[in-house]
Amino acid sequence: MNLTSILCSILLAAAIAWGVKLLNWVWLRPKKLEKLLRQQGLNGNSYRLLLGDMKDLISVTKQEQFKPIQLSDHLPPHILPYFHQSMSNHGENCFVWFGPSPRLMISDPQLMREILARPDVFQKPRPDPIGNTIAGGLLFLEGRKWAKHRKIINPAFHTDKLKSMVPVIGLSCSDMIGKWEALVGSNDSPVEVDVWPFIEDFSGDVISRAAFGSSHEQGRRIFELQKELVKLALELMRFMFIPGWRFVPTKANRRTKAISEEIRSLLKGIIEQREKAMEREEAVDGDLLGTLMESNKEEGHGMSIDDVIEECKLFYFAGSETTSLVLVWTMVMLSKHQEWQARAREEALQVFGERHPSYDGLNRLKIVTMILNEVLRMYPSVPVIARALVETVKLGDMTMPAGVEFMLLIGAMHHDPKIWGDDVSEFKPERFESGVKGQSMFIPFSSGPRVCIGQNFGMIEAKIAVAMMLQRFSFELSPSYLHTPFLIITLQPQHGAPLLLRKLK
Ligand code: HEM
Repeated sequence: MNLTSILCSILLAAAIAWGVKLLNWVWLRPKKLEKLLRQQGLNGNSYRLLLGDMKDLISVTKQEQFKPIQLSDHLPPHILPYFHQSMSNHGENCFVWFGPSPRLMISDPQLMREILARPDVFQKPRPDPIGNTIAGGLLFLEGRKWAKHRKIINPAFHTDKLKSMVPVIGLSCSDMIGKWEALVGSNDSPVEVDVWPFIEDFSGDVISRAAFGSSHEQGRRIFELQKELVKLALELMRFMFIPGWRFVPTKANRRTKAISEEIRSLLKGIIEQREKAMEREEAVDGDLLGTLMESNKEEGHGMSIDDVIEECKLFYFAGSETTSLVLVWTMVMLSKHQEWQARAREEALQVFGERHPSYDGLNRLKIVTMILNEVLRMYPSVPVIARALVETVKLGDMTMPAGVEFMLLIGAMHHDPKIWGDDVSEFKPERFESGVKGQSMFIPFSSGPRVCIGQNFGMIEAKIAVAMMLQRFSFELSPSYLHTPFLIITLQPQHGAPLLLRKLK
């Protein structure tokens, strides 16, 4: 056999192997999974080659999500239209095809808890366009590396660190309130302000300070770039199930790459400055970056610089938008429900008077806490989380094969009338009069070992901001406000939040 025929044989064998793999991925494996799911009594559409239900999902979502709704409307048909429709057609635990992967819809509290309790087998689906582009780090790691990072990062959220953030958050909030005061001026009549961009800036500022301490100004540029990346993620998600899609040089992919490189080089700059300061034995800020870099000193146990970069990126992604959304929906709800606004203001003034909030005082805000919980029930910042099963396990009374994925519909569970009663679509903070302990049907921060690490940080930030806004302003919905909660990873106010602000005397 000459060299050419040997090469040809190798190429032919490789092509056949690749062809078999492709056939398995695009047809045989999905059909096998479909059969196994149907044997468990589960229903869904029949698998359609390659795209599965993606085309319908995108078109139904587009049709529904752009329509404004009433504040009293039932939310799931609007924010989760395709899943809601599938559940009505095929039963509650139905499956939807994300390309060649079936995803089981889960809105039952017990099943959700079982899944979230076992991150060893219910892992993050791959490929993940967010994990691959916007942020890596803790949120996307698995197994031992995840456990190691979680242990290193935990001290950044200890009570002493959170306490030291209270005055910092107060200052950032004062900046935002100062801007509103300038806009309202000495007007006696209310002035329309779209509060959403100000709130986004505020939480970006808080995260910059928490992550980078004295280098927070440099961190702000990273925040801007990450906001742009989140918008691009929507574009990337359409084709996320095609392996290697992110390497195809589309406009969105090229811009994503350029932004990622800029973020990386900005972060490297901040880290190098900090390394030099550490070499000079200058006092290191007690911020997230300080905590991560201190871990490097422990021989063999620390994080690499790449890991530190990923965790810093994630901090912005996971920590700023989530909290700003709680705030904006709280302002919308309190604008609509003036009686709760008045009760919350009375409490804030009773606890803090005209002063900036203190850590101890925050624990005495009962009404504000009930309001925030009701907002997190109705408008959870992250209404859906996904998991993929890596080995066959029992789930409830079903046997689930490896390869099946899950959509945990927190947003649907939080709006289930069977759980919350027929008044589920009404804003009723009194539901949380006795706190949230033991309520497995209320999980805005997820649950189990991978529960949100920044939960207390987010709640502290939200309480401070709500108290400070109430100390200075009264607010109501502007006639131009359109209620259009819009789900792109997080639940956003699509047309912002134009409110009528009035300065309190
Ligand atoms: C009110 C605001 C917040 C909400 C509603 C929220 C919600 C969530 C949810 C639902 C998850 C689970 C996601 C999943 O497993 O797929 C999560 C994870 C996470 N959150 Fe938050 N979050 C908030 C604030 C924050 C803040 C302020 C930070 C950081 C400063 C943060 C950092 C993280 C991290 C690092 C994870 C990944 C944890 C892990 O996988 O071990 N979050 N968050």
